[in-house]
Amino acid sequence: MSRVAYVNGSYVPTADAYVHINDRGYQFADGVYEGITVCKGKMIDLEPHLDRLWRSMQALAMDAPMQRGPMRLVLTELIRRNRVSDGFLYLQVTRGEAVRDHAFPAFSIPSFVATCRRLNLNAVRARATTGISASTQPDIRWGRCDVKSTSLLPNILAKQAAREAGGFEAVLVDADGFVTEGSSTNMWIVTKDGALKTRPTEDNILAGITRARVKTIAEHLQIPVIEESFTVEDALAAKEMFLTSSTSCALPIVTLDEKKIGDGNPGPVAKRLVDAYFDFMDA
Ligand code: PDD
Repeated sequence: MSRVAYVNGSYVPTADAYVHINDRGYQFADGVYEGITVCKGKMIDLEPHLDRLWRSMQALAMDAPMQRGPMRLVLTELIRRNRVSDGFLYLQVTRGEAVRDHAFPAFSIPSFVATCRRLNLNAVRARATTGISASTQPDIRWGRCDVKSTSLLPNILAKQAAREAGGFEAVLVDADGFVTEGSSTNMWIVTKDGALKTRPTEDNILAGITRARVKTIAEHLQIPVIEESFTVEDALAAKEMFLTSSTSCALPIVTLDEKKIGDGNPGPVAKRLVDAYFDFMDA
């Protein structure tokens, strides 16, 4: 757990960190967030995360709580105060406190909170060595999944259903049988030809920062990347499947709905990408 949190201008012990009951984040999930991995004290892909935070705020006509420079300083200070080497930074901006009314308030001050907890990157890597199971769940979300909104009920219900089915992640599937993304991750397959396939970010999914990084790494390794939607059947027939996210990095999926992907073990392509992603974080 984060020992010290940043809440609207102050660093406070997490036990004393509160926002108001009239905060629109609490009442309406009228907020946006980011999650950033910290490796050896360094924020991984900080600038793309801040770019996305600003895009999310803009999409919801939400004012920024501060400029980017001060925000970088707050995050750096939070890592220091929590004495975190490998960890996970969570940042959340909401429209702030106002009398309850669905329409935007005429005036409100955005609320900004951030926490930093330890993340065992060795355990994340160990999980990538064995791979994980996943199960398909219907994607019942809205039409703006590009916005990283705190409105996550469909995501948490899907994750919970996957966990109750004995899996680690939910693979979300649209009405036409196409995989959209995971409940908190992006999805990839390795085709029969050895190319990577992942859904285009224009197609109502979150533009994952890890997804973009893994795409760049794959291109450096001269592994072809095709940005095209794929179905559950394509995934089951694929050589390999894996997911990407800030907290999971790159993580092989070895069974989907209890059916083996490939031979049911992490494959060589995913292994290369996992190694290369950890090298990138360590650099
Ligand atoms: N989840 N898709 C969804 C729906 C997500 O919530 C996330 C991130 C991703 C991966 O994005 P990134 O690579 O930028 O972390 C894809 C974070 C980790 C979370 O909700 O905690």
